[in-house]
Amino acid sequence: MSLKRRLPFLRWSFLRMATGARNITTTGQIGDGREAAAVDYVLANARPGDIDDVLARIDEFAYEKSLLINIGDEKGALLDAAVRRANPALALELGTYCGYSALRIARAAPSARVYSIELAEANAVNARQIWAHAGVADRITCVVGTIGDDGRTLDALTARHGFAAGGLDFLFIDHDKDAYLTDLQSILDRGWLHPGAIVVADNVKVPGAPRYREYMQAQQGTRWDTIEHRTHVEYQSLLHDLVLESTYLGG
Ligand SMILES: C[S@@+](CC[C@H](N)C(=O)[O-])C[C@H]1O[C@@H](n2cnc3c(N)ncnc32)[C@H](O)[C@@H]1O
Repeated sequence: MSLKRRLPFLRWSFLRMATGARNITTTGQIGDGREAAAVDYVLANARPGDIDDVLARIDEFAYEKSLLINIGDEKGALLDAAVRRANPALALELGTYCGYSALRIARAAPSARVYSIELAEANAVNARQIWAHAGVADRITCVVGTIGDDGRTLDALTARHGFAAGGLDFLFIDHDKDAYLTDLQSILDRGWLHPGAIVVADNVKVPGAPRYREYMQAQQGTRWDTIEHRTHVEYQSLLHDLVLESTYLGG
């Protein structure tokens, strides 16, 4: 593995990302146009209709051009395995960004309908282009909104997309780290998750979702059964991260 891959701190795009951290929380993008550039790169270089190639080109862009805040290849393999274990007909994701993880979910569950909630319209526009290029636009839907918007997005999922009690098999949480627990609780309040459904949460160590982790630890063996996967922050192998994979036990 090249030094550049091992140590992202040596890359200009990492430094630009560090200075753009505030943009991510307000606009959902780093602020230097890298997300649109990633879409252009995929459309120019990935074989149309080939999910594997689209994902590989996104990873290539993140390693070789500009870092992206996708789940990435290493943690993505953990996501794939959890999706295969859940074998979902219906999957929900919080945090679309460029559409990378939704594409991984759709690949690991070839007959699933995948919904992804994203606060930034610009990210929805980008992700839809990538999904269309991969040939799965009919199976992945981006809904612009947030779970915390006084029920508007949750109501839209029910009224327009058929979300109903016990119908959600898989949930991937990868958006605002401070909203992980409250948004999970809002989804639980709707009764969509059934016993045996699986919830995966990224970035539990970096940037960190400590209240979510404490909640899962406190509920271990009663309401949830959680595996903590020790792994690395996306697109490098120095910083450690945690991905939590939790099976809902009901109650
Ligand atoms: C880490 S990125 C998601 C990466 C994506 N899941 C992947 O691996 O390809 C986080 C995304 O969540 C979005 N976001 C932030 N807060 C949100 C919220 N409260 N609801 C929905 N999306 C949110 C951001 O705009 C950003 O696109």
